[in-house]
Amino acid sequence: MEHKSILVTGGAGFIGSNLLQYMVKKYPNNKFVCLDLLTYAGNSYNVDAIKNEVNFTFVEGSICDRSLVERIFQFYRINGVIHLAAESHVDNSITGPEIFIDTNIKGTFTLLDVAYKYWMDAPHVYKEVYSDPNKKGEFPRFLHVSTDEVYGTLGKKGLFTEKTPYAPNSPYSASKASSDMLVRSYHHTFGLNIIITNCSNNYGPYQHNEKLIPTVIRKALKGEKIPIYGNGSNVRDWLYVNDHCTGIDIAYHKGVNGEVYNIGGDNERDNNYIANKICELLDEKVPKNNGSYKDQIEYVEDRAGHDFRYAIDASKIKNDLGWNPQENFESGIQKTVDWYVEKYKSEL
Ligand SMILES: NC(=O)c1ccc[n+]([C@@H]2O[C@H](COP(=O)([O-])OP(=O)(O)OC[C@H]3O[C@@H](n4cnc5c(N)ncnc54)[C@H](O)[C@@H]3O)[C@@H](O)[C@H]2O)c1
Repeated sequence: MEHKSILVTGGAGFIGSNLLQYMVKKYPNNKFVCLDLLTYAGNSYNVDAIKNEVNFTFVEGSICDRSLVERIFQFYRINGVIHLAAESHVDNSITGPEIFIDTNIKGTFTLLDVAYKYWMDAPHVYKEVYSDPNKKGEFPRFLHVSTDEVYGTLGKKGLFTEKTPYAPNSPYSASKASSDMLVRSYHHTFGLNIIITNCSNNYGPYQHNEKLIPTVIRKALKGEKIPIYGNGSNVRDWLYVNDHCTGIDIAYHKGVNGEVYNIGGDNERDNNYIANKICELLDEKVPKNNGSYKDQIEYVEDRAGHDFRYAIDASKIKNDLGWNPQENFESGIQKTVDWYVEKYKSEL
């Protein structure tokens, strides 16, 4: 088969930009085409580090724009997709859900349908590899990046596995669940080679200001109140973003066609722990004249429908594909705080 030409959607966002920085360097013989609308959440600065690499191209535009997506497939002879573009902030899905339906559901449908028609209806290009089991590893593949939030909420015990029934609770998670179902349907109905990954909460460099960890660091450094929802007891399973990127890489290259892989770091922490830990690190790294950053923590009205706990059983991707995270929360949060302290220095 000709060289790999991989469309990465949402590559100017948090996870997409970390993934591209990793993949562009790791696979110099593959071409990476980033399609990103540069919404409020995306920033071309996030891909500055790779913008001059010969195997990287940036296209500004929407996954909902069918004719643009078709032209990208044809022009770059796309033979792989890693789909991350989405509206990703739960709070925004509560105040304005419609764009979540458009981007996350309609956008995913558009990509799937174009990929399917381009790969399956262009026999001169791909039908042969699709029908030859010996060429399995060469299939044009569509990897859909999703979230553990599709499974709903857990009580104090238990873990999400790939068999946990879907029970999304927010418009965001419902839109992601819908997109997962569409991806599944294109596999079962049309034979599209797909992988779905459901990952827990990510943290690390290049995350948008609106998310919890950048918010805690920024507000602390600015001397503002650090808002924590409810009583701070909500639990997430935190994964350093680079570990998510290696999980996507391994699932994309080694995953079994049609399978779902949960990705999580086995690092359950509640919001109180996160805020206090960050304040302790800031007290060491950028000490205040008086007192601790912890004094700025303030409890605010809880998010509507706030899921209590998410936690992932990642044994399938570990056992079947050999993935293992490199960071634990204590090592990852050090790097993260250092990165945001540097970033926010100029804004203070
Ligand atoms: N952040 C997490 O903790 C987490 C965890 C699990 C799964 N995910 C999933 O990973 C993916 C990436 O998440 P993120 O945190 O990097 O999100 P993000 O909000 O930081 O980035 C999303 C990117 O998508 C782009 N985008 C939005 N609408 C678009 C459109 N119509 N066409 C093209 N580009 C568009 C934005 O400009 C932005 O660059 C999402 O699908 C999300 O559901 C995120």
